[in-house]
Amino acid sequence: MEVVIVPDAKEGGELIAEAMAALLRRKPDALLGVATGSTPLPIYEALANKVAAGAVDASRARICQLDEYVGLPAGHPESYRSVVLREVVAPLGLGADSFMGPDGAAEDLQAACDAYDRALAEAGGVDLQLLGIGTDGHIGFNEPCSSLASRTRIKTLTQRTREDNARFFDSLDEVPHHVITQGIGTILEARHLVLLATGEGKADAVAQTVEGPVSALVPASALQLHPHATVVVDEAAASELK
Ligand code: F6R
Repeated sequence: MEVVIVPDAKEGGELIAEAMAALLRRKPDALLGVATGSTPLPIYEALANKVAAGAVDASRARICQLDEYVGLPAGHPESYRSVVLREVVAPLGLGADSFMGPDGAAEDLQAACDAYDRALAEAGGVDLQLLGIGTDGHIGFNEPCSSLASRTRIKTLTQRTREDNARFFDSLDEVPHHVITQGIGTILEARHLVLLATGEGKADAVAQTVEGPVSALVPASALQLHPHATVVVDEAAASELK
């Protein structure tokens, strides 16, 4: 695992956007796995700026989602499909056909999970998967105690994660209890994992991920098992590293 400490979130976003641009120059139809939440927004902004400046052609890029809420009505602005279309797909000038994600509104949710794992494999696998990290060490929505071999499946959010995400909704009551998330085993199949963590609130989770033992109690520690994992942290998120 490679750990890169940057001064702030903007620099982290710039660094990772450049890695994504370099990948797209090598492989124009790369499958880019994206995360939602606040942390990756500087990455998406920096990548869109590069595309607008003509520094990279993203017109053949393919985008896939890491996770999705269960039970939000179609088109809800905080469904991760809506977020990814708004924050990633549209700014890169891509169409909805370049994008795939799990169906959180499916009647048979487990079938939708299995179909998503198959779709990722049929698309040739994820070339670069962006990850954020929860304050409890989750990646995707693999909360502590998730199996390190898990596949895409339905998970129940912890109260702490629902409280962390309540800022995107009008009230805590509106935050869904369930999600579909790529499993840790699914995530580990991506060819390159890039985790960005910013802010002091992530410092403990980062220290456990990077310096602690590999443990299902800290799902992000599974990155230690991956042959090509990069953890980019700002100085605040690095503050508890030894
Ligand atoms: C979102 C996701 C989550 C977030 C994590 C951090 O798709 O998979 O693991 O990355 O909850 O969220 P932020 O960046 O909002 O602190």
